[in-house]
Amino acid sequence: MNNIIISIDGPSGAGKEKIAKYIAKKYNLYHLDSGLLYRRLTYLIIKNKVNFYDKNELVFFLKSLKKISTRKNKALRNEKISSATSIIAKNQIVRNFINNQQKIIVKKIPKKRRGCVIDGRDIGSKVFKKAKIKLFIHAKPQIRAKRRHKQLIAQGEKSIYSRILRNINLRDKTDKKRSKSPLVVPKRAVIIDNSYSFKSTIKQINKALTKIV
Ligand code: C5P
Repeated sequence: MNNIIISIDGPSGAGKEKIAKYIAKKYNLYHLDSGLLYRRLTYLIIKNKVNFYDKNELVFFLKSLKKISTRKNKALRNEKISSATSIIAKNQIVRNFINNQQKIIVKKIPKKRRGCVIDGRDIGSKVFKKAKIKLFIHAKPQIRAKRRHKQLIAQGEKSIYSRILRNINLRDKTDKKRSKSPLVVPKRAVIIDNSYSFKSTIKQINKALTKIV
């Protein structure tokens, strides 16, 4: 059986990726980071100078793309792409396109996997409403900003904590207030508080996932 779907939603920098990786490894699931698809598409829109506000031009461009790569790239995580992504992700045409990409990827996951763990903003609420288990990751904005700041410094990049916090708050607002697929706690979701140690987070996750052991 390789059709188990676990959805992980939550705001930027809440630790969804780390949690998804932990779950994927523990339960032999394929990990799909939906944010990465939105980020890569944003990068492609900017690179190809697509006038994103022109519907015909956008549709024409999306039709020219067959498959969005899920390959990770550090450049996709910079602040410029992060901010542009949350603006582009408001567009329903873009969302339909990415949702379709996700469905295609999930259909083609290797047989050896038991299923898929997908993280994003609308996975449990819109894209995979029937997910077997839904998690919503919470962490205070100050903690998310502090972690991101530390990560950037460790990578040798310039970082100003107050700017990171401002961007996080802004992205939260954009993701929660948008009319299309806003960030919400999905029905049936278990809320995981990732504000403290990862050990405490793992405890909560293991409790939430007893169903799939
Ligand atoms: O998760 P990540 O921070 O990489 O996502 C980047 C941006 O993509 C988010 O701020 C959000 O605007 C958008 N996104 C989304 N729906 C998803 C995943 C990401 O709107 N399922």
